[in-house]
Amino acid sequence: DESVVRRDRFSGGPARSFLSSLAADERIFEADIEVDRAHVVMLAEQGIVEDDVAGQILTALDAIEVDGHGSLPDGEDVHEAIETAVIERIGAEGGKMHTARSRNDEVAACIRYRLREDVLEAVETTLALREALLEVAEAHTETIMPGYTHLQPAQPTTVAHWAAAYEGAVRRDTKRLLEAYGRINESPLGGAAFAGTTFDIDRERTAELLGFDKLVENSMDASSSRDFLLETVQALSTHATTLSGLAEDVIIFANRGFVDLADDYSSTSSIMPQKKNPDTLELVRAVAGDAAGATQGLTTTLKGLPRAYNRDLQRATTHAWETVDAVTEASEVAAGAVATADWNEDELAAEAGAGFSTATGVADLLAANGLPFRTAHELVAHAAENGGGYDALEDAARDVLGEPLESLADPGAVEDALDPVESVASRDSHGGPAPEAVAEQLEGAREALSAD
Ligand code: ARG
Repeated sequence: DESVVRRDRFSGGPARSFLSSLAADERIFEADIEVDRAHVVMLAEQGIVEDDVAGQILTALDAIEVDGHGSLPDGEDVHEAIETAVIERIGAEGGKMHTARSRNDEVAACIRYRLREDVLEAVETTLALREALLEVAEAHTETIMPGYTHLQPAQPTTVAHWAAAYEGAVRRDTKRLLEAYGRINESPLGGAAFAGTTFDIDRERTAELLGFDKLVENSMDASSSRDFLLETVQALSTHATTLSGLAEDVIIFANRGFVDLADDYSSTSSIMPQKKNPDTLELVRAVAGDAAGATQGLTTTLKGLPRAYNRDLQRATTHAWETVDAVTEASEVAAGAVATADWNEDELAAEAGAGFSTATGVADLLAANGLPFRTAHELVAHAAENGGGYDALEDAARDVLGEPLESLADPGAVEDALDPVESVASRDSHGGPAPEAVAEQLEGAREALSAD
């Protein structure tokens, strides 16, 4: 039958649904309409398709857009289904839409077009999180808290210093996403199947109509590369990893009574009536696992793929959608949880000096007075073994050096070094936790946030 187009012969049979990306392509339905429009406008401007045919195609695309993805005829993917819908509306002339292109450059353009907006949304959530962290920091430059290494009490710090630390990490996450954005925002359209076209197309024009900054120049590179997907998913995964650490910290702080999460960011138990659990942050923590898994899946799919287009790429795309959705939501939730949490200053102050966490400051004091730091470390370690504190230090001075503590440091200075508030105030080195050092960090963070 002459009227049966070649496509119908390759209907897919029992493998139809396995071959089809139509359902997942709902994500790029709008993008495909835009890509079709830009392509058709360019074809008309170049005299490749008659103006009146182009006009009919554009009118059909408007109607198809209104009807939505759900009304599309069956097809192997959204590109084929939209073309079929155009032909159903205006007849065979609608088939001119696919002149001088392939689904290979088309799908790459659609993914980039849609991913741009998704990545910008992800960037927005990183900005909101940075704002939330900075607000916490600005309100708590004097709120001392225990600082940990190996999750053991290490040295007193402040809530501001802690929050600014995460702000710094999220700031780099923003940058990585913006850098990925720059490389997403390049037009592959006009690459055709991979080998260019005989038609006198204007790739710069379609790039301009679609708001792409520049071209992916080489047509084979344009149609078949997906490193832009990989770096986007990696950047998102890195951000999710930052979020997971932040979530874990807050979960631990909540557990120790240092912070109260707002009810909106907590859950209770269906059986234990007293429970208030940090479930939102546990889910944030878990998203990093999903993102790492998607990065692994995508990398493995892309690894060893020959140039040019291979259908494997269809399954590469979904990793990006899942990751950008999950990480954006996690980032947003983390920002909300941080913004609404209450810090318990009394609990934090009471615990700031626990575990002889001011020991390093005492060793620093002795070293500043001329004792070799290693000797000071030994002396204070000896005191730590006997419970820490002033009396233990006096014993240690006698036991280790055979000298009274007073000969090594002024008693008032030792008392100050043992005090968590003084301990924090004295660590005013560049980037340190002393309130004025943190104030400088926050100034820089504010400037960076308004620049991003
Ligand atoms: N749906 C495909 C994808 O997502 C695009 C179609 C290209 N198909 C092809 N057989 N060349 O990658």
